[in-house]
Amino acid sequence: MDINNKIIIFNWKMNPDSKKEAEKLFNIYLKSKISSKNKFVVAPPFVYLPALSSRNNLSLAAQDIFWKESGAFTGEISPQMIKDFGVEYVIIGHSERRKNLGETDKIINEKILFALKEGLKVIFCVGEDLEIRKNGLKVRQEFIKNQLLSGLDRVHISSRDKDSEINELIIAYEPIWAISTNINSVEDSPEDALKMSIFIKEVLSSKFKNLKFKVLYGGSVDGQDIKDFIKYKEIDGALVGGASLKKEEIKKILSI
Ligand code: PGA
Repeated sequence: MDINNKIIIFNWKMNPDSKKEAEKLFNIYLKSKISSKNKFVVAPPFVYLPALSSRNNLSLAAQDIFWKESGAFTGEISPQMIKDFGVEYVIIGHSERRKNLGETDKIINEKILFALKEGLKVIFCVGEDLEIRKNGLKVRQEFIKNQLLSGLDRVHISSRDKDSEINELIIAYEPIWAISTNINSVEDSPEDALKMSIFIKEVLSSKFKNLKFKVLYGGSVDGQDIKDFIKYKEIDGALVGGASLKKEEIKKILSI
């Protein structure tokens, strides 16, 4: 199976618990054989960014961002600050932030607009919970469509005088019940992820003409099942959480 032009994001979340461990972990990535056919991005906690640096097709992402340049915003980090450390991508709207910190579609929209304006590549996460899933495909699709359209409100393509300009956008479809649960292959077949990916592409292409976008799948993806998802041309890559901390999984994924 030939897998090309995919993008794989390794989301370390709030791990590991020391700088030394972070450097050790990153070294596993650097010492692995990295496939040149695909793009790989590591998203460590902010505090480890200064200790890590990108290489050819191994880039860095932040796990979040604030929507102002600087000022009285205690505890926040701006795009300018992370760009200084060679960060190219930013994850916005992860379900763990929506759930644990009450991030709303409105906040996510502010972050997306500002990150794009500042030239960061946005990885915008969407996904439904189990309750919504139980109501059937139509309800799920409506929910995802709303998340997409609210998050991308006021986003424009190639018009310099508008709020934010993009020509490439990455959406990560991550059904919440599949995150960190290892139930993706039981509950969520790759065919289901394929269906949702096609749906997301339909929604985006009717809203944004000329936009280049990628749709990734996320939810307990590991070195074993990643190919089952990304073998489809409609699924452009994966967002990997738990497996991004495990040596053998990292090696398998980087070699695809
Ligand atoms: P997981 O996390 O691979 O551990 O399910 C994915 C994510 O939340 O980004």
